[in-house]
Amino acid sequence: MIEHKFFNISLFLLLLFSGDLSGDLSLSFTVRDGDNVTLPCENMIKNHHSCDTTTWLFTDSRGKAAVELVNLGQIKETVKSDRLSVTAECSLVIKKVTAEDVGRYTCRQFRGNPGKQQGPDAVVYLSDVIMTEQKSRDQVTLNCSVQVHGHCEHKVKWIHNSEGLNRDYSNIKTLQSPCSAAVTFIKSSYSHISNSDFKCNVTTEDGREQLFTFSPHSSGKKGGEILMIMIKF
Ligand SMILES: *[C@@H]1O[C@H](CO)[C@@H](O)[C@H](O)[C@H]1NC(C)=O
Ligand SMILES: *[C@@H]1O[C@H](CO)[C@@H](O)[C@H](O)[C@H]1NC(C)=O
Ligand SMILES: *[C@@H]1O[C@H](CO)[C@@H](O)[C@H](O)[C@H]1NC(C)=O
Repeated sequence: MIEHKFFNISLFLLLLFSGDLSGDLSLSFTVRDGDNVTLPCENMIKNHHSCDTTTWLFTDSRGKAAVELVNLGQIKETVKSDRLSVTAECSLVIKKVTAEDVGRYTCRQFRGNPGKQQGPDAVVYLSDVIMTEQKSRDQVTLNCSVQVHGHCEHKVKWIHNSEGLNRDYSNIKTLQSPCSAAVTFIKSSYSHISNSDFKCNVTTEDGREQLFTFSPHSSGKKGGEILMIMIKF
């Protein structure tokens, strides 16, 4: 009896972990702020040609309870429902992504009445890279930072593609931390270069490199945002 119970518990734990850790499918996408992003649902039921079995859940990076964005193919009323759509492949499209969209997206399949979950969850983690420009007197600081769900495992740094910068680095300061990087330079010393000579180099946790040219953001303070998505089962 005790053995039986123990077996059940370990089987439960095994399922719990296999749902989260096995099947190392890890995709990431990078999208600039204001761009649209398509999160694929990787656990679709084979040969089912409709999204009436698909549910999308969202947990934000502050770890609040999951919110249902899509229920059996129908977009639910949420703060971002007007920016959401579902493709024929049941992918979740988010328009004009913002930092509030950072978090964990779960695609889940249900069948039958009452609905029973089919297969494992397909999880998509969304991270957001924000670029800002700060000017003070003659000094310009460009900042590139990644907003992530949970622990930061991204590497961020600024690189440049200007001939002029290769000659003289003396008035350029860089500051690197795990999920952000800043570069500060004296504008008058580098009048020949522009902010768009700088690129933010983001290396994701799975070692993929993505480059983003600095571009000012249209709405005020923000420089521009990029998105990063990781898919895990
Ligand atoms: C996002 O999608 C909308 C319509 O679906 C389109 O009008 C807009 O240009 C797209 N934005 C970008 C940045 O591609
Ligand atoms: C860059 O932005 C991030 C996120 O807002 C912030 O934590 C970091 O301190 C900033 N770095 C500098 C040097 O301002
Ligand atoms: C971007 O950063 C990664 C990791 O720090 C580095 O290996 C790579 O060479 C950099 N890419 C460029 C174009 O500098």
